[in-house]
Amino acid sequence: LETELINAIGAAETVAALEEVRVAALGKSGSISLLLKGMGQLSPDERRERGPVLNGLRDRVTTALNARKADLEASELNARLLTERVDLTLPSRPRRKGGVHPTMQVMDEMIAIFAEMGFAVAEGPDIEDDFHNFTALNFPPKHPAREMHDTFFLKPDAETGERKVLRTHTSPVQVRTMMSQKPPIRIIAPGRTFRKDSDATHTPMFHQIEGLVIDRDVNMGHLKTTLETFMARFFELDDVQARFRPHHFPFTEPSAEMDIRCDRSGGKLVLNTGEDWLEILGCGMVHPNVLIACGLDPDEYQGFAFGMGVDRLAMLKYGVSDLRPMFDADTRWLAHYGFSA
Ligand code: PHE
Repeated sequence: LETELINAIGAAETVAALEEVRVAALGKSGSISLLLKGMGQLSPDERRERGPVLNGLRDRVTTALNARKADLEASELNARLLTERVDLTLPSRPRRKGGVHPTMQVMDEMIAIFAEMGFAVAEGPDIEDDFHNFTALNFPPKHPAREMHDTFFLKPDAETGERKVLRTHTSPVQVRTMMSQKPPIRIIAPGRTFRKDSDATHTPMFHQIEGLVIDRDVNMGHLKTTLETFMARFFELDDVQARFRPHHFPFTEPSAEMDIRCDRSGGKLVLNTGEDWLEILGCGMVHPNVLIACGLDPDEYQGFAFGMGVDRLAMLKYGVSDLRPMFDADTRWLAHYGFSA
């Protein structure tokens, strides 16, 4: 019986087959179990003689079963490891993930360039009061920009009658900065701005970056150099050909708009050649009335300020022709311009 069982154990090719052998020998009615049970009918002498023999048989078969089981389990595990091996050199499956909005990418680029030029970032609220958005910036009481046409007004406060606005530009941050810190001041103020306007190049919500420098002996030359240096870096050119065209803003005097030379005849924008001029921002020397409204002495301090449309500059840099889809959150559009993962 022992040889028979040991052979069967050796022949079992799987853990399951081995288990069958074990049940046939040591299970409830297995061959060894029956022999052991049969001991009850024997005389004490016979029992003393056969007992050790049967126990020895049972122990050797159990040992053989366990050894074979360990072998089979090890080789089954090896087989599984082989077939289920993970190939770490395979490229991972691409996962859908969000991306940074084009406007915000451009905003971040701009902030980084200004940071290298020594500008700190200042912020102000999207919901402004009339004082910071208009009055302190030297808007005359009947200035057209205050009217419903451009400005989103909030419902007047029931008690005070005060009518807040969604800021129409980032210039109120100039006022907040001048009123809260002493010169020298060298800040940019990136943020959202709002006007009742919607066409291919205007959306009711858009983004601006304001710049403000206040110190002694600041002049228009500083303003030009700062903006030309910035634009060259932004458009990744050695320099940009720019012109400063006289303009009017209530809060700067003199005021100018900065244009850069470009050629759009080929349907594509090429900078620094051609006869076209592209308007890119408004700027000027801070008006003495603004300095006074902010508690500064215009005889002691001067400064310059500028404001540029971030979305517009993003359109130019990336060749987008219509501003409105920028804010439609259509991932196909974003992907087309390479803005999503
Ligand atoms: N605030 C102006 C605008 O929104 C831009 C500007 C800023 C002009 C600072 C001059 C100085 O059009």
